[in-house]
Amino acid sequence: MAISLVGAPRGLRILLPASFVILVLVLVALYHSTGQLETSQLLKTISNIHGGGNSQPQEEEEVHTRPANTHPPPKYKPTSTLAVPTVTDPFPLLATSTGAPPSIPEYNVPKPGLHRDYGLSYMPPLFIGFTRQWPMLLQCVVSYITAGWPPESIYVVENTGVQNSNADGKLTLQNPFYLNHTTLSRLGVNILQTPVLLTFSQLQNFFISTATSRQWPHYFYSHQDVLVMSFEDGADTIKRPGDRDWFFYDDQEKTDILRPAAAGQRGYRTIYENCLRELNHTLENEKRWAFRWFQYDHLTLVNRAALDAVGGWDSLMPYYGSDCDMNARLEMDGWTMRHRRVGIINDVSTIMEDLAVLYRDPEVVPKFIDPNPIPDEELDKVERPHKDERPDKDAPTGDETALDEENEPGEQPPENPTEESKEESGKEPEEGKQEESNEKSVERRSEKRGRGSSRAAGGSGIAQDYFRALLRVADEMGAYKYRSDNSARNSWQGSQHGGVGEPYYYNADGFGKSFWILAEAGREVFRQKWGHRDCDLVQETALQLDDQWRVEKDWEDTPSKS
Ligand SMILES: *[C@@H]1O[C@H](CO)[C@@H](O)[C@H](O)[C@H]1NC(C)=O
Ligand SMILES: *[C@@H]1O[C@H](CO)[C@@H](O)[C@H](O)[C@H]1NC(C)=O
Repeated sequence: MAISLVGAPRGLRILLPASFVILVLVLVALYHSTGQLETSQLLKTISNIHGGGNSQPQEEEEVHTRPANTHPPPKYKPTSTLAVPTVTDPFPLLATSTGAPPSIPEYNVPKPGLHRDYGLSYMPPLFIGFTRQWPMLLQCVVSYITAGWPPESIYVVENTGVQNSNADGKLTLQNPFYLNHTTLSRLGVNILQTPVLLTFSQLQNFFISTATSRQWPHYFYSHQDVLVMSFEDGADTIKRPGDRDWFFYDDQEKTDILRPAAAGQRGYRTIYENCLRELNHTLENEKRWAFRWFQYDHLTLVNRAALDAVGGWDSLMPYYGSDCDMNARLEMDGWTMRHRRVGIINDVSTIMEDLAVLYRDPEVVPKFIDPNPIPDEELDKVERPHKDERPDKDAPTGDETALDEENEPGEQPPENPTEESKEESGKEPEEGKQEESNEKSVERRSEKRGRGSSRAAGGSGIAQDYFRALLRVADEMGAYKYRSDNSARNSWQGSQHGGVGEPYYYNADGFGKSFWILAEAGREVFRQKWGHRDCDLVQETALQLDDQWRVEKDWEDTPSKS
């Protein structure tokens, strides 16, 4: 509401605008001195300007007492019997020192300006959306860095809905929305904050808008629950859960991609360099392309022009169904999407016990822990409502844990839909999976190493051994996530339950439940938008782009509500 000063006494007419000018000046000065406007500081400043002096907002200890009315007290839900373990920091070395992080393997150190070798004028950014579960995020970020991705082109997108609480260091590790700005800055990565909590589709649109404002025509995004590696051991043709049939332009590049040089050999390329190459190659080969997927969308290269052309993500489908809708619209409009190979990507629900292993710390043996172990007998009861109605029910790898974990997608590949990957979880995926404890260790210890990884680039074999041990654990983590017919894949999202009383606290179970409700609502939007239930619009219907919201449903019965 605008304040009209027309009728005000003359003094006020001058005083008010004057104090406004002063306020602006003070704020500008503040902004310049800190480089950042902090809400708390702002409030303090304002109250000082008004002569309040007393800048401490009253911390009211609110005691919640039940109202003394005539209604009976509420009946509480039973409390879960599953013990939720306390989350531990997965990177003690970084948490307890103030020094620089350890150095990464020499052969993975990104060459400055490498992007220019591939004709790119800017370092394509990698967005990693984050909503919950800091240990998973930290593992993801560290794996990109140690695999050779330059930290300065990584953008963690904090989408927690807690305003500045993390930036101000006000949340604790047991809070699901905890994210440590200091740690990420020390690793050299950038942090962007969404202004409010966004859904999967909104977050995707936020990536588009960020890329637009920074004039980035192409960008990468990654889920936060992946563990990536470069082809340090050369050829790796394992199909991991989540992998689809890879696309190759011709036989020569197929050989090139499937038989990469190992670390230390001539022609070795990191996952980062392969991504730059992929962008270069795509630009050389195709005009109308939209996505390049590296293990479905766990890591994705995006052509902004394609998304702009079809109107971005449908934000009325908050989670599930949104990717089916997006991919179908892109394909109807003639934009290509292809499954390609740039490195080793494991979709995981667990974390390395100590992330120092990714730096090949010879003192630490790679092993992983499940932050939220579920007893085998509980596995099938894990919440997965409306399982039968998923538009993507036949897609083996739709991963709920999108981006910011939760979403995800059920997509169906636009080309060669395959069913195969479910069973193909890698070479020796099953062993050890029945262990009862939440600590899964790899018995096959790597050979005792006397020296750090730096020697290895010369091909001494020591680093290779360590890498193999690391990869074995990563593959086991990937297989572990998909155990039990996928129903446990999202259990990790429930692993932190603390934070009561902290700013913007939200009940963790309620957050999880709400997610599924919104996810189901999105599926219903999909069904009504296209008059079709499954995630196969292009393959199984004759629908075209402008049919959306204009067609009757193509099935007889309404989907059964159980
Ligand atoms: C791809 O990279 C090569 C050099 O490796 C460069 O000459 C070419 O211009 C690049 N293509 C594009 C489209 O940027
Ligand atoms: C963030 O991590 C640093 C170590 O990198 C630690 O000193 C600090 O206490 C952490 N902040 C919070 C709010 O936990």
